[in-house]
Amino acid sequence: MTITTRRPGALSAAFALAFALGGTALAAPKTYKLPDETATLKPGSEPGFEAAKINCTACHSIDYINYQPSKKGHAFWEAEVQKMIKVYKAPIDEKDAKAIAEYLGQTY
Ligand code: HEC
Repeated sequence: MTITTRRPGALSAAFALAFALGGTALAAPKTYKLPDETATLKPGSEPGFEAAKINCTACHSIDYINYQPSKKGHAFWEAEVQKMIKVYKAPIDEKDAKAIAEYLGQTY
């Protein structure tokens, strides 16, 4: 699988570069060969499951979700999804965010 600069490591490097060079360094995208994703989301309630598959795989492995302690509940996942949106600028709309938090709270 070939992805263009979308994993956390690549993200941080891109940000560091952007800050260092005033944002002009990103003109020529770099392509990295990444290991294939082996982690999968646990099946769960729709539409959150589908929305999570689409929105939560763009930047990092599903293992980021799998490695959280289990049974943290809805509020934890709500906060986690909001953090992805507000802190890391994940482009997820409110409706999908709610559905994803619902699904993650029930399933993880
Ligand atoms: C725009 C990129 C982006 C998207 C999209 C994204 N994340 Fe993240 N996520 C990050 C970054 C950056 C980190 C922090 C990485 C690190 O600390 O190494 C992170 C970390 C995490 C963590 C680890 C715990 C933490 O809070 O640092 C979890 C869990 C997580 N993300 C869940 C999700 C879920 C659920 C979604 C979908 C709603 C999602 N992510 C979508 C960028 C993203």
